[in-house]
Amino acid sequence: MDAAPTLGPFDELARDAAEQEGLISFAGGLPDAQLFPKRQLGAAFLKVLSAPSCAALQYGWPEGSAPLRERIAERLVARGAHVTAADVIVTSGAQQAILIALAVAPRKDTVGVDDECYPGALAIFRGAGASLNPLLAESALYYAMPSMSNPRGQRMPAAERARLLELARAHDGYIIEDDAYEATDFRGETSRPLLAEAPDRVFHVGTFSKTLCPGLRVGWLVAPRAFAQRALERKQNQDLQASSLSQELLVEYLKHEDFDRHLSRLRSRYLKKRKRLEASVREHLPQLRWTSPSGGFSLWLEGDHPLAGEDLLRAAVDEGVAFDPGESFRRAPSPHFALRLCYSAVPERQIERGIIRLARALRKASSG
Ligand SMILES: Cc1ncc(COP(=O)(O)O)c(C=O)c1O
Repeated sequence: MDAAPTLGPFDELARDAAEQEGLISFAGGLPDAQLFPKRQLGAAFLKVLSAPSCAALQYGWPEGSAPLRERIAERLVARGAHVTAADVIVTSGAQQAILIALAVAPRKDTVGVDDECYPGALAIFRGAGASLNPLLAESALYYAMPSMSNPRGQRMPAAERARLLELARAHDGYIIEDDAYEATDFRGETSRPLLAEAPDRVFHVGTFSKTLCPGLRVGWLVAPRAFAQRALERKQNQDLQASSLSQELLVEYLKHEDFDRHLSRLRSRYLKKRKRLEASVREHLPQLRWTSPSGGFSLWLEGDHPLAGEDLLRAAVDEGVAFDPGESFRRAPSPHFALRLCYSAVPERQIERGIIRLARALRKASSG
């Protein structure tokens, strides 16, 4: 039988690793499954299926459920944006929102991105044939994560935000603002989205994947009004609508649950894991450099030696640990070695063991 297609050597290694029993995986930006509100979603499921119209199993409008769009708009308004539910398109995850934004944005031969960036967005831009510029160089399109970056877990400094907006205005450009990790700021501080500063220049992208569960596949896009109709047409052409079932579940969940309380529990859980990972890395991987993240799911580590991520990942999987090689996140190749470790989905008690395995793999791969 022919082998099933994969997305390249890292993907193949990751898939093999996922099959390995006892593997400790710092790969993949996965939320902690212990935080999934299973009981509440279970109750919501029974409720939405028993509604007489059963909208959860029916087709819906391409822009998505009206009450869900209300809730999304309310949260953006609370952060300073001037939007209404009419501006929100519910998408199948933030990933689709980025895809739609890119499809409708004018002049996208070059996209300005961070030197280390979310690989799913890089794949979209490269797949569309765009070349990648440094974020703060002159481009007509920019992709940024101002509220919380992936992989570094940092909020964009005020001066950089101002510079990005200035560049976009000066070059008649547009910004795709990816807000996926906004709610994970460990201090619990919300941030003012770029959408609030320049609604006519910003495609704002958000998601419930990192805060509730990615399996629902619900995200959103707020496009500048001049592009709203084209964005809606794209959404409809791609998949008609986001899942009715997921949207109805979310509406029901948000109606009865205190989402902010959930977020605060989530932040303290991830903060504990981050601290445990940092202590382990300090002790067992002292040769690597990193900056403590102020949110997000991961730690970005860099070393001075040239070492291919694939070689280290192979050695790591042999030791029973996985991570994301730094190459996947980079705008351009670098002689320095890097990796991303996600602490989010690893049980706290396994974190140190995983880092001990990784340190062993690093020694082997560096000497071999
Ligand atoms: C920065 C960033 N944006 C978007 C996504 C995609 O999110 P979704 O599951 O909503 O498609 C991810 C997922 O890892 C991400 O890290």
